[in-house]
Amino acid sequence: MIKVNNITCKYKNGSFVQTIFEDISFEIKDGEFVIITGTSGSGKTTLLKILSGIKEPDNGRVYWDDINIYELSNSNLSNLRLKDSGFVYQDFMLIDELNVYDNLILSQRLLKIKDEKRVNDVIEMLSINHLLKKYPSVLSGGEKQRVAIARALINNPKILFCDEPTGSLDFKATLEIMELLSKLNKEYNITVILVTHEQDNLKYATRIIKYNNGVLECD
Ligand SMILES: Nc1ncnc2c1ncn2[C@@H]1O[C@H](COP(=O)(O)OP(=O)(O)OP(=O)(O)O)[C@@H](O)[C@H]1O
Ligand SMILES: [Mg+2]
Repeated sequence: MIKVNNITCKYKNGSFVQTIFEDISFEIKDGEFVIITGTSGSGKTTLLKILSGIKEPDNGRVYWDDINIYELSNSNLSNLRLKDSGFVYQDFMLIDELNVYDNLILSQRLLKIKDEKRVNDVIEMLSINHLLKKYPSVLSGGEKQRVAIARALINNPKILFCDEPTGSLDFKATLEIMELLSKLNKEYNITVILVTHEQDNLKYATRIIKYNNGVLECD
């Protein structure tokens, strides 16, 4: 469960203060598929960063279960993020110099874990066996995102954060990736928190958090 209490975020540009949201509280239960939507520049990525432990809000608290995450030390927070969450980006963020298999196991290396069974399970879950020896540069966009999702799942996280995961994909690949995320949510009970501005994707949500005319509506 993620719980946010009274969070506020403002950016200061010189003497101009831009309010992204103010005094917002809501809860995301385990197993939800939450979509954050709104126009470009409304603050979707900012909210995702705050929920995922990347950016501390100006005010308020963010809890993962009972843990007030921004009270943790930097190293404890980054370990918690690596263990309990995965992050998927619009531009995949695969490492071009590493083949698919080595991209996959990167976060296990960072945590000094070796769990080959989990790696094999993820390879099977996402049907990427045939891609393991290839390098990212030869993969299609949809294949790259499938690998990036596999990498995000490698430590068996409870939560998957996705920032415009289909923003660089065509219609067919978008459908495939959204179906995949929906399956991971339903069959493996992974909480998905996904940013998109694409109307067609909203149908996958069990709940929508929306910026409406600059105001964040969260229920
Ligand atoms: N580090 C920063 N410093 C100052 N302003 C920022 C910073 N990061 C974001 N902003 C501003 O905050 C607003 C929200 O940015 P954010 O990236 O969260 O929007 P978004 O909804 O994800 O947009 P897009 O759909 O284009 O990705 C924008 O006006 C942006 O310029
Ligand atoms: Mg964004």
